[in-house]
Order: sequence, then C-alpha cells, then structure tokens
Amino acid sequence: MKHLLTITELHNEEILEILHEAQQFSEGKAWTPATDKFVANLFFEPSTRTKFSFEVAEKKLGLHVLNFESQSSSVQKGETLYDTVKTLEAIGANAVVIRHPQDHYFDELVDGISIPIINGGDGCGHHPTQSLLDLLTMQQEFVIFQGLNVVIVGDIRHSRVARSNADVLKRLGANVYFSGPEQWMDDAMVNGNYVPMDEAVKIADVMMMLRIQHERHAFKMISSKEEYHELYGLTVSREAMMKKNSIIMHPAPINRDVEIASSLVECDRSRIFKQMTNGVAVRQAVLKRALQHKGEVVYIG
Ligand code: CP
Repeated sequence: MKHLLTITELHNEEILEILHEAQQFSEGKAWTPATDKFVANLFFEPSTRTKFSFEVAEKKLGLHVLNFESQSSSVQKGETLYDTVKTLEAIGANAVVIRHPQDHYFDELVDGISIPIINGGDGCGHHPTQSLLDLLTMQQEFVIFQGLNVVIVGDIRHSRVARSNADVLKRLGANVYFSGPEQWMDDAMVNGNYVPMDEAVKIADVMMMLRIQHERHAFKMISSKEEYHELYGLTVSREAMMKKNSIIMHPAPINRDVEIASSLVECDRSRIFKQMTNGVAVRQAVLKRALQHKGEVVYIG
C-alpha cells in the first residue's frame, strides 16, 4: 500500500520514476488493473482542477469512481473523517483521494486505514500531486532541474503549493527564490532567498505565480487589487524583462489582473493550461503506484 501524503516523503528517485511514468501516460500509454478497483474522491474544500483531473485519470485507468458529497453524507450527522474513510474502506474502496481544510488531516487516518490515501491538498500544508505536475511541466521544458532558477511569487505563507515546491525543487538541484509581499514570506523560505519582483523577472527561468488565498486570511491583507498588481504582480512590462526561454506557471485558479496580467495568462510563455493537462497524467501515475500490487496488473499499451 502506497499513500501519497506529502512530496517530502518521496525520495528523488521515486519522484523521477513517477514523472517518467506520467510522461508515458501523457504520450498515450494505457494501463488498467487486472481486477475491478474502486476509488473514492472526498473533497471537503472547493476544487475544479484537482477533483476533475483525478476523475479523468481514474476513468482513463478503468477505475470505478465513487464521488463523495460531503453535504449529503453522514458527515452532516457528525461522522468523523476517520469513520467516513473507514466506512468507504469497509464497503470496498481500494483507495481514497482527499482534500481537506485541516493541515495534516491524514495524521488521524494513517494508523487505522489500510487502503492508500492520496492527498489532494491539506489546508496550508501540502499538495503533492500539484508539485508533481509542476515538476513534469518544468522537466518537459528544461529536461533537468539542476541550476534552474525558479521564483515563487505571492502568498507564500498560505500556499501549500509554495511549501511543497520549494522543498522538492531545492532537493532536485534548482535555485529557489521567493518574491511578493514580505509579510507573506515564512518558514518555506529556508529553501530559498527573497528577491524583489523587478529583479526576479530578470533571473527567472520559471516565474511561478501564486493566487492570493483570501479564504485563509484572518483579516484583509491587501489594500487594493490594483496596488498589488503594480507592486507584486506579473505585469505586461515585467514580462517584457523576462529571459527569452523563461516560462510562466500558476497552479490556478487565477485572479486575472491581480497576480498576473490577464493578457499573459495565455501568452506564448505561459504553461498554465499545460500544467492542467499534465495533472491528468501525473494523477494516472500516482493512482497506478497506489493500486499496483505484484502479480495483479496488466499492461495494455
Ligand atoms: N490547483 C488546484 O489545486 O486547483 P483546484 O483548487 O481547482 O483543485
């Protein structure tokens, strides 16, 4: 059984193996388990990309998808997350994908649950499949991570994407930098140094823009969207200062004209929609890893 809870728990070799497998899926590889498998998707926070790309990945792998609706489930009667997952395990789920607002929600599950848990995002904690799809996108562009200048910009403190990516990129040999409002820098910065935006755009191979996570702010933290865009956003004039082959990434959803100018979202350097496409292949690879048992797989492509 293979959980995927954080990117931190994966060795570099295992990350590269998942990326290799994901690349094969993105090129049309087909794989399906030899016996019927059920996967339950439990999303306790809103999601478009993660939820639906897991569902597409599951269907491409021939898995039976159990879409859990928290609002119409016994969670409304007070059932705990642990009892909910234990129930799904008892009725035949072979793996669960969970997004939950609580950091490290999985700590209360791992001892008693014996099916793989795939983390689709925990509070401000981790988002391992987002990291993997970001890595795949960078690898397709630059082949190796060693020496790559990646600038992560924006709401670092509240971003599980920033935390996961800073850790893994540093391990893989990239140079990680942070930019944005200094009050949003935090312990993720042990993996990189702060650079002002006007310098960041000149050194970056990858500008990784982040959404302002208003839903995680205890109080209003920016005076206006226009001011944020001018001070910390990827404006059209800043994009003009970027290196010839550098790219723009963003995990989305995007606040157009806040962290990034709307006209740049689909510009030549943008890999934002490519990231989403890669999300399906990465999730196919992660699901295969979770479900694969010796002697129980068939390759059909
Ligand atoms: N990037 C990402 O996790 O998007 P969703 O919140 O839509 O899943």
